[in-house]
Amino acid sequence: MNPFRKAATFSTPDELRAYAAERGFELPLADAGRVEALSRPATVYGRHVGNRWALLPMEGWDCLDDGTPSAFTRRRWLRFARSGAKLLFGTEAGAITHEARSNPSQLLVARHTLPELKRTLADMRRLHAELYGTADDLLVGLQLTHSGRFAHPNRADRLEPVVAYRHPLLDRKFGVEPHVVADSEVGAITDAYAEAARVAREAGFDFVDLKCAHGYLGHEFLSAVDRPGPYGGSFENRTRFLREAAEKIHAACPDLPVAMRLSIFDIQPFEKGPDGIGRPMAREPGPYPYAFGGAGDGLTMDPDLAEPAAFVRLMREGYGVELVCGTIGSPYYNVHMQRPAYYPVSDGYEPPEDPLYNVSRHIAAARRLRELCPGTQVVLSGITCLQEHAVEAAEAAVESGAADFAGLGRMALSYPEYCADTLAGRPLDRCRICRTFGDCTNAPRRGEISGCYKLDPDYRVLPRGQRPY
Ligand SMILES: Cc1cc2nc3c(=O)[nH]c(=O)nc-3n(C[C@H](O)[C@H](O)[C@H](O)COP(=O)(O)O)c2cc1C
Ligand code: SF4
Repeated sequence: MNPFRKAATFSTPDELRAYAAERGFELPLADAGRVEALSRPATVYGRHVGNRWALLPMEGWDCLDDGTPSAFTRRRWLRFARSGAKLLFGTEAGAITHEARSNPSQLLVARHTLPELKRTLADMRRLHAELYGTADDLLVGLQLTHSGRFAHPNRADRLEPVVAYRHPLLDRKFGVEPHVVADSEVGAITDAYAEAARVAREAGFDFVDLKCAHGYLGHEFLSAVDRPGPYGGSFENRTRFLREAAEKIHAACPDLPVAMRLSIFDIQPFEKGPDGIGRPMAREPGPYPYAFGGAGDGLTMDPDLAEPAAFVRLMREGYGVELVCGTIGSPYYNVHMQRPAYYPVSDGYEPPEDPLYNVSRHIAAARRLRELCPGTQVVLSGITCLQEHAVEAAEAAVESGAADFAGLGRMALSYPEYCADTLAGRPLDRCRICRTFGDCTNAPRRGEISGCYKLDPDYRVLPRGQRPY
């Protein structure tokens, strides 16, 4: 059992702020009950967005074998629509090709899945309008991704990695010989982004999210410092893959806005130490060059975030990317940072530092990126671990200009109406607040569908160890 005091045990934001300050990090929290900033509308891509709550992309690995949304996918998306959040950033990761799937049950964004995507999205808008009077101020995006190093397209237990470069630590950690994408293969992948964007537009999504996060292929190209040729080495070359993908999306769908999910910074991979606590993987002494936005030592944040900010500005100027959903690190190799939690995930480790410290890193990174990229709207992630106090961090972030929107990930699985309840000033339903147990992360790692097995009654009754369909 880790020694960190859980956020839910603090009765006031003052106590929690003081706890963080004693431990040397800042946790900006608004006074309890304040939601003025969260309630304010925004304009994104010229569209009116009704409030500042966002839901983060959350996949369920619960589609049919051919990648069509199943009844489980549909249920989750409808729950997102009833949350009261007005920005559904990316909905969930949709693979651009079969080979790009992180799991054989991942959503595929393709011609044959278009009818179900379209139907589900229309039903989401209808439900949202029934509950909140209108869906004209609801913005819904679809995340487009290539799972790269973490692709399992054919069997949940068989990694079939497609990578931008050989990585001295990740190759060792996952122990599978990866396929390095050849320069000549890049064009077909970026074409697939464009085709997926066409499908998203025909389905009625308001924007697509070009995923540049979490160690997946798009993100990995950004740190391809050793890769020879046009897609590696210099900043210009490392950003070429994503620029070409955006270029092709833009050419295919000039009227479809492009947003990005970006790991604002990264650190080196971690592993479980002999005491069960996470520690940096052993490596040769010296600089660590593979953390995009990292400080070069593999462990601390670059106070300038020079490259991520330059990349965001480039994408804004070149392809009109106005909205960036900030995240940090990867759920596969430094999960304690990407998904702050009190309980370790099954293939993870006990947190090496207070999980709330990593919440504060998300907030600081979003703030810095926003400062460095004026005019770009930033969505904050990683605050579910604050539980009852997540709304106070959300309000403070938007109020102080650290972020334009506050996003919820895991909380949206256990308690999507957290958004509507906080905005309406209703008491929170404490039995539904995500406690970061991690089952929604563990299930897909066992090949099961993801969901909140702990707090969502429909998942609690599902057969374990086998798929329910
Ligand atoms: C079950 C599960 C599925 C996720 N799926 C995605 C995804 O499809 N795309 C993505 O960018 N992030 C995904 N994430 C990461 C979340 O969007 C979010 O960054 C993370 O959960 C931290 O935010 P939170 O503290 O509000 O949960 C997923 C997280 C979980 C737990
Ligand atoms: S399973 Fe439920 S309670 Fe546990 S982390 Fe996921 S959403 Fe939160």
